[in-house]
Amino acid sequence: MRQDTVQARQDGNGKAAIRAGVLQQPRATRMLDKLNRPLHDLRISVTDRCNFRCTYCMPKEIFGTRFKFLPRSEVLSFEEITRTARLFTQLGVEKLRLTGGEPLVRKGIEELVAQLAGLRTLDGKPLDITLTTNGSMLARKAQALADAGLRRVTVSLDALDDTVFQAMNDIGFPVAKVLDGIEAAREAGLAPIKVNVVVKRGTNDQEILPVVRHFIGTGITPRFIEFMDVGNTNGWCMDEVLPGADVVQRISSEFPLVRLQASTAGETAQRWGFAGRDGRHDPMLGEVGVICSVTRPFCQSCNRARLSADGKIYTCLFATSGHDLRQVLRSGATDDDVLQFATDIWHGRSDRYSEIRASLPPSTRKAAHKIEMHYIGG
Ligand code: GTP
Ligand code: 5AD
Ligand code: SF4
Ligand code: SF4
Repeated sequence: MRQDTVQARQDGNGKAAIRAGVLQQPRATRMLDKLNRPLHDLRISVTDRCNFRCTYCMPKEIFGTRFKFLPRSEVLSFEEITRTARLFTQLGVEKLRLTGGEPLVRKGIEELVAQLAGLRTLDGKPLDITLTTNGSMLARKAQALADAGLRRVTVSLDALDDTVFQAMNDIGFPVAKVLDGIEAAREAGLAPIKVNVVVKRGTNDQEILPVVRHFIGTGITPRFIEFMDVGNTNGWCMDEVLPGADVVQRISSEFPLVRLQASTAGETAQRWGFAGRDGRHDPMLGEVGVICSVTRPFCQSCNRARLSADGKIYTCLFATSGHDLRQVLRSGATDDDVLQFATDIWHGRSDRYSEIRASLPPSTRKAAHKIEMHYIGG
C-alpha cells in the first residue's frame, strides 16, 4: 500500500459521527493515479432514466418502450451514495456532481442533496455540490434543491430555436420551459449557472451566436461542447464535430474574446471572456466556455471518478467496464474495506481515451460495450 493512503485507511473506521447534519471526517492525504493525477471530482449518476431522448445520447430507436432500464433494487440508495461520497472525500474528493440520465427524475433528490451537504473536504470545507440537468423540472425543484444545500447547476440547452431544440431533445420539449427553469435556479441563488450546448455541425451550429447573444451580460455562462463518441448508439462521426476553435472564432467575429485562466485544476472547459472597449475582459459581460474533448483532449489533468446509478466506479467516460462497488457495499464491508477498494482502483488508473482516440483501431473505438452517456451522465 502506498504511504499516501495509510492515514485514510487507519481513520476510515466507520465511526464518522453525524452531528447536527455535519459528518465529522478524519484527516487523510490525497492519492495519485498511474499518470500522477489526483482524485478531485466524483460524478454521481443517480438514475439511468431521462424524460428526453436527445438524439446524441438516447436515440428513440434504441431507448424506446422496450429498453430495459435498471430495476430499482440495483440502484444505489441515498444512504449508499452518501456513504460512498463520504469515503471518497477521505481520498481527496472536493466536488460532487449529480448527473443521470436526468437527475431530477429521481424521487426525493433533494433529500440526497441534504445528506451530501453534510460532508466536508479533507480541509474541513463544504464540498462543491452541483448538478447537471436538462432543466425540464428545474422550475419546480430549484428552490427545494437550494434549500437542501445544492450550490449551483449546469443546464443543458442545445438551441434557442424551438424547432431545432425540439428535434434534438426528440420529445418536443419547448425552449421556454428550460429558460423558466434557468430563471428559477437564478432566483433560488444556484449560482454560477452554466448552460451546456452540445454542438453538432449541420444540426445546431447556427445556434451558437443566438445563444451567446441571449446570455451575454446575464452572469450565465454558455459552454459549447464538441459532440463526442461516447457509447455506441449516437451514430457519431467526425464530420459532425465542430472544433471548439471554430466556435471561438465564430463568437469572436461578433464579440471579441480574450482567453481566461482555468479557475480550477482539471477544468473541462477552456474559458473565454468577453472583451470590453479596452480589449480586456469585462466581467460584466461574462464569459463563454468551449469543451474540446475531441480536438484538444484534457486527459492529462482528468481528476474525475464516476459512480453509476447501479454502483459501479468508472475511471473514464469511455470505459468499457466498471468496478462493482455496490457488491462491496452490500457485502457488509467496513469503511476500511471500501477505502481500500477505491484506493486500489485509483492507483491502477491509466485511462486517457480522448488522447489516444485517433490512434485506436476503429474496432476498439466502436467497442460494443463502451458505456452510454445516459448511464454515466457525462
Ligand atoms: P464545472 O464543474 O462547472 O466545471 O463542470 P464540468 O465541466 O466538470 O461538468 P459538466 O457536467 O458541465 O461537463 C460538461 C461536459 O464536459 C460534459 O457534458 C461532457 O460532455 C464533458 N466532460 C465532462 N467531464 C469529462 C471528461 O472527464 N472527459 C471528457 N471527455 N468529457 C468530459
Ligand atoms: N457529446 C457531448 N456531450 C454530450 N452530452 C451527452 N451526450 C453527449 C455527447 N455525445 C452532454 C449533455 C449534458 C451532459 C450531461 O452531457 O448535453 O450537458
Ligand atoms: Fe439528453 Fe441529458 Fe437526457 Fe441524455 S441524459 S437524453 S443528454 S437530457
Ligand atoms: Fe478523463 Fe477519460 Fe475524459 Fe480523458 S477521456 S478526460 S481520461 S474521462
